[in-house]
Amino acid sequence: NSEISRVKNLERIHIGKFDVETWYFSPYPAEYASASTIYICEFCLFHFVSERQLRRHLKKCNILHPPGNEIYRKDDISFFEIDGHKQKTYCRNLCLLSKLFLDHKTLYYDVDPFLFYIMCKRDSKGCHMIGYFSKEKESTEGYNLACILTLPQYQRQGYGRLLIAFSYELSKKEGKVGSPEKPLSDLGLLSYRAYWTEVILDILLETKANSDEITIEEISNRTSITTTDILQTLQTIGAIKPYKGQQIIWLSDALVAAHEKTKSKNHRTIDENCLQWTPPH
Ligand code: COA
Ligand code: NA
Repeated sequence: NSEISRVKNLERIHIGKFDVETWYFSPYPAEYASASTIYICEFCLFHFVSERQLRRHLKKCNILHPPGNEIYRKDDISFFEIDGHKQKTYCRNLCLLSKLFLDHKTLYYDVDPFLFYIMCKRDSKGCHMIGYFSKEKESTEGYNLACILTLPQYQRQGYGRLLIAFSYELSKKEGKVGSPEKPLSDLGLLSYRAYWTEVILDILLETKANSDEITIEEISNRTSITTTDILQTLQTIGAIKPYKGQQIIWLSDALVAAHEKTKSKNHRTIDENCLQWTPPH
């Protein structure tokens, strides 16, 4: 990174039953400057300098889920939609928390123009945040996601993929294509590449099995992934090949084998029938 980053101030956070090491600087208030650990209420996201203060807070804090509408529920996974304008404090605290794991994104103190989609795992003690993404209420650039985070204690378990899949389900309901805000972090790009590849190959292999043909435009209509992202993905995985003076889509045995391996991991998926949501405008 060519930019000089501000020195990371906090070493770790305590949230729910987890102690998590932080990655980057986040502008928590000055009184936290000397603290190496901050204690965060996993439900309202308020932060405290000592465990004692957090315990005292937990006796009074009576919310057991993010302060918004539950718009999706399947198995033990729920999504809540939060309006940045209506829940400023919660959303600012969420931004502070997520900046600890995001290097390059501007931190939005102005949370009003965003909706926040919080993904939780439900159990008898409440709804525990796994991760979230934010989305501009109006994006002139056609972005369907601004920031995405899986809390480190939940990473590499397929939850990022689930957040991305959810963002495209919302776009499908809006009848629009969408793309994540650029630039993406390295981890963001890896996760998107993996998602796009899986979704596109699913469709291409299904098309091939039916001895059918499909255009990039049609793939875009079915998935809400932009034609640009589809083309770039196909190029990156080496699935575009010159043939008789034209460019054709061509899947090598190695690509198909890699795809089958991905499918065998049996990722959780988003079930569109469990989404109770109509576009806000
Ligand atoms: N190394 C290599 N590949 C990775 C990876 C890593 N650290 N993290 C994700 N991937 C790729 C893999 O292909 C992975 O599939 P696999 O585990 O089956 O191999 C795929 O992405 C999906 O991973 P998943 O477990 O669904 O993602 P996640 O829950 O770990 O979340 C992020 C991904 C990007 C949300 C998470 O890394 C994160 O929050 N990072 C910090 C914030 C950030 O950079 N956000 C993006 C910029 S806005
Ligand atoms: Na990861």
